[in-house]
Amino acid sequence: MEQFTATLKQDGRYAVIALPFNAKEVFGIAKGTIHVEVTIKDIHFRTKLVSKGSDSQIIIVDKKTQKLLGFQGVDMQVDVKLTCENQKGKEEVPKIEVSGNEMIQGIFERRSVRNFEKKEISEDIVNTILQAGFSAPSAKGKLPFDFIVIDHPNQLYSETIHNVNTKPLENAPKAILICGDLSKEGTKPFLYSSCGAVAQNMLLAIHSLGLGGVWIGVSGIKAFENHLIQFCKLPAKIIPVCIIAFGYHNNQTKKERNWHSSKIHYHKW
Ligand SMILES: Cc1cc2nc3c(=O)[nH]c(=O)nc-3n(C[C@H](O)[C@H](O)[C@H](O)COP(=O)(O)O)c2cc1C
Repeated sequence: MEQFTATLKQDGRYAVIALPFNAKEVFGIAKGTIHVEVTIKDIHFRTKLVSKGSDSQIIIVDKKTQKLLGFQGVDMQVDVKLTCENQKGKEEVPKIEVSGNEMIQGIFERRSVRNFEKKEISEDIVNTILQAGFSAPSAKGKLPFDFIVIDHPNQLYSETIHNVNTKPLENAPKAILICGDLSKEGTKPFLYSSCGAVAQNMLLAIHSLGLGGVWIGVSGIKAFENHLIQFCKLPAKIIPVCIIAFGYHNNQTKKERNWHSSKIHYHKW
């Protein structure tokens, strides 16, 4: 984390803070976007640095944060804490003994898999994944979800949903559409949280069975939601939340463990 005092000033349409150092050098990032977490006066926001030339960068402060800071266009000195989100390998990941604990090992190792072998998935495997879904926590144990097992996920394609995010559906031999049931859970945040817990349980089960899978986001993408409602003939009370596409794979990419001290707070922020 970098701490410094700088000036928040109006620069044309934008309120900006120029970094007093070259973030590329300090964070060891040669190219690409630098995503940062910024804290000023207990106000916390995420943004990406904007380059001003090859070795200097600025933070653009959005309108909401300007208001919270009381900034009205007049130069203001601010104390800034800056953490780089994509600074890899600098932070020490704690040593955690996982040998013998298959569940923890699985959680640490699971990765999204997006390319699959053309190999059939047995009914036993599908049932195990469904059972993992049913085993997820849900508010008041309402199980406010339904699953649709899809045998040829590439049939889900239509022009509207053909993009880089949905590409895993192209060659996945199986997929499960996780739907939320509004008649069982009317509080939407609870409904989505319950479906999210199901999705994660399924992904962990898929990984532990030696297969790979990926979560394809649906909710919030209206065209995709409507397409699935029609394709799967969903009743009005049922909303499509996400798809888990899965299959056998020979993609052995190791997962680098994420650990960000700046995201851990004790007792208060
Ligand atoms: C809510 C949510 C939506 C996601 N949507 C997609 C998606 O549409 N397509 C995709 O390929 N991956 C999707 N993912 C997978 C993430 O890209 C992936 O989990 C993330 O890059 C971290 O990589 P890992 O799963 O290998 O740890 C989604 C994950 C979540 C939790």
